[in-house]
Amino acid sequence: MVELGERSYPVHVSPGLIGNVGTLIKEHISSFEKCAIVTTDLIWEVHGRSLLESLEKKGINVMKALVPDGEEAKSWSVAEKLIGDLLEYGIDKQSIVIAFGGGAVGDLTGFVASIYLRGVSLIQVPTTLLAQADSGLGGKTAVNHPKGKNLIGSFHQPSMVFSDTNLLHTLPRKEILSGLGEVVKHGVIADQTLFNFIEGNTGKLVDADPDALAYVVNRSVAIKGALVALDERDSRGVRAVLNYGHTTGHALEILSKLEIKHGEAVALGMIVASRISESLRLTTSADTERLRRLLTALGFDLKPPQFAPIEIVEVMHRDKKAMKGSIRFVIPTGIGSPPVIRAVSEHLLIQTLESEGYG
Ligand SMILES: NC(=O)c1ccc[n+]([C@@H]2O[C@H](COP(=O)([O-])OP(=O)(O)OC[C@H]3O[C@@H](n4cnc5c(N)ncnc54)[C@H](O)[C@@H]3O)[C@@H](O)[C@H]2O)c1
Ligand SMILES: [Zn+2]
Repeated sequence: MVELGERSYPVHVSPGLIGNVGTLIKEHISSFEKCAIVTTDLIWEVHGRSLLESLEKKGINVMKALVPDGEEAKSWSVAEKLIGDLLEYGIDKQSIVIAFGGGAVGDLTGFVASIYLRGVSLIQVPTTLLAQADSGLGGKTAVNHPKGKNLIGSFHQPSMVFSDTNLLHTLPRKEILSGLGEVVKHGVIADQTLFNFIEGNTGKLVDADPDALAYVVNRSVAIKGALVALDERDSRGVRAVLNYGHTTGHALEILSKLEIKHGEAVALGMIVASRISESLRLTTSADTERLRRLLTALGFDLKPPQFAPIEIVEVMHRDKKAMKGSIRFVIPTGIGSPPVIRAVSEHLLIQTLESEGYG
């Protein structure tokens, strides 16, 4: 459960879960007339039938709305088109909208569900590891603006989340890796047992073993869910620890014009934050090296991209509207212990990036 008072919701995680989605929805939400599945051609082709059967066998009236694949789905014009489709299907306040896809479909569908008829119920059925371990819960929704990512959005919690790790066997390896970046992050900031598990199961995880993935998704959901429960709107600095690795990561994504995938950028960012932590005497070099070994074993390319440290710092400033002379960082304090948030001087940051081989 993600505990949010009257907005609390269950997150189900297990291999083969998709066959039970219809039953579980019927048990949890009694009176609804119709549901609309929002998905992409590709996802529908590989996994649509199992979701459809699961809903139809419980007598649920289903319609399907297709959106473009990947980041292209997250636009104002796609949101408008989707709203038109929902209107055409007669989706009303009593209906349910199901996001069936990765984080992109989830963010778009969540956004539309939050504004359509001033808000309708949303169910997330995430189909990427990143979406199962991270973006499918927490209620952040968004579409992009030409001036930047996620600049238009809202908070709209789902009513239920269903993560079937069997769906991940069709996911390209680079997408598995992208999700594993966030899972490792959860291990570092909150759960040494999770970190140990990833160390002991690197092969199974990259090969999309459904049981190994179910373990890491479950742990991730528990960790993120607890932080969301304490700080739903990311306004108290509690949920902010989930940004570990993301300050540098985001800057690298922007500088590479999204050539560097999110998870890969986060992996590089986690190392940088850990090195800063060493300088602040909050963690040991042994912990940084353990993290580096694990990421390497999973297959991350940790060679620093050749952007000048000063360029990276400038992008961080633009990105975070940081204070002059320093940038706020999530600083790890070991593996599995709560991080701290600190203003890090540009000087230390540049020194760290240089010593890691950036530029
Ligand atoms: N709302 C949040 O809290 C939050 C958190 C993190 C990231 N995000 C957002 O999530 C998005 C990234 O999500 P993502 O990494 O899931 O990428 P994605 O949604 O773009 O999916 C990646 C690719 O995998 C394909 N795919 C999805 N499921 C598949 C399956 N089972 N088998 C085969 N292929 C499949 C998709 O078609 C797509 O091409 C970004 O837009 C990011 O901003 C949101
Ligand atoms: Zn992330």
